[in-house]
Amino acid sequence: MTLPVLPGHPHFAYRDNALFAEDVRVSELAATYGTPLFIYSKTAMLAALASYQRGFEGRDAQICYAMKANSSLAVLQVFARAGCGFDIVSGGELERVQAAGGDLKKVIFSGVGKTRAEMRQALAAGIGCFNVESEAELDVLSAVAAGMKLRAPVSIRVNPNVDPKTHPYISTGLKGNKFGVAHEDALRIYQHAASLEGLKVVGIDCHIGSQITEVTPYLDAMDRVLDLVAAIEAAGIPLAHIDFGGGLGINYNDDDMPPEADALWRQLLAKLDARGYGDRKLMVEPGRSLVGNAGICITEVLYLKPGEQKNFCIIDAAMNDLPRPAMYQAFHAIVPVERAASESAGVVYDVVGPVCESGDWIGRDRALHVAAGDQLAVMSAGAYCMSMASNYNTRGRAAELLVEGDLARLIRARESAADTFRGELLMP
Ligand code: LLP
Repeated sequence: MTLPVLPGHPHFAYRDNALFAEDVRVSELAATYGTPLFIYSKTAMLAALASYQRGFEGRDAQICYAMKANSSLAVLQVFARAGCGFDIVSGGELERVQAAGGDLKKVIFSGVGKTRAEMRQALAAGIGCFNVESEAELDVLSAVAAGMKLRAPVSIRVNPNVDPKTHPYISTGLKGNKFGVAHEDALRIYQHAASLEGLKVVGIDCHIGSQITEVTPYLDAMDRVLDLVAAIEAAGIPLAHIDFGGGLGINYNDDDMPPEADALWRQLLAKLDARGYGDRKLMVEPGRSLVGNAGICITEVLYLKPGEQKNFCIIDAAMNDLPRPAMYQAFHAIVPVERAASESAGVVYDVVGPVCESGDWIGRDRALHVAAGDQLAVMSAGAYCMSMASNYNTRGRAAELLVEGDLARLIRARESAADTFRGELLMP
């Protein structure tokens, strides 16, 4: 019998109590490659992408994968080969796109703090658009581009002042966030941009936050942005494209089911049509919703430590591998890789890593039926896990595998301790 671990994770399922990633038995991968180990399903990534593609069928739309969610080169290759562009936020991410063979004309460059060197690098690469986040950045970008005898294609990120109803650290479209320019200032700043010799205005963009599970904030943001499009174009500045950013959430547990991308976009496109912008070129920057539920992290139970107040299940993955619980009190489901045939209720544990911080927890109050040496799968680990991983406590970063059908490929070798201090210099 095949049983998906969670709704929304069809490519990670139990077959007779053994967890499979597509058609590969996870325990066998862990035995071969060790733990902690990230396993991604290529089919799950392409299925998530297909939902957007269905939503945009018949439209002039470009999907720019927000690669900060997972920037491993093989993951970028999957999306590049499927026709995606990329939303980047650094010169380093641009180099990754180049290394993965992505189409540079489909790259957009977001972020509040682009350096002059990054601007030059992106202009030389011929990227599609700079998403500019302040008036000061416009002036610098114009000067840099003019110095290279180029015109930088720009869109200005406007802040629609809409509450995305998500964690405050990942809300970005409210007043008081560092992102974008204020709605009231947007027209004036567009007029300023249009007057600069090194710039060519090509679009407008917004991004209101991440892990959004409701449709209403998107609909509100779209209304606010379309009001601006009307005002900016009435002032004689045409906007070839509208970029609605990313932010669509995934289900980390069963409570908070966000809409599917195609369902979300059916509603958004209906509004766009109703307001007369249905044939405008559209861009989106999804990150988490393309990769989040396409990845899991396998970890081994090192010790069980019963206590008076808490029982601890100490695993070999830690906050350096899976930083989201420590940073955002985020929830990731944790399930056994091989389930006991008759599952008793289990014992309630805090699942914690070996790092020397009380903040190093991966799951709190989880009922588990485990013994030392068992393996656990941390679910929804495809987004913002490896890309945020660190070497804290001189822990090498985990290995990564990409599974397709019954084939598993190593896409990142486990980092050794020597890897973590390469580049450091001893005193004479
Ligand atoms: N576009 C821009 C301008 C962004 O800042 C982001 C994410 C995205 C697109 C992609 O958003 P997504 O579709 O992935 O929600 N580390 C946090 C999430 C930070 C999101 C930052 N910006 C987490 O683990 O929840």
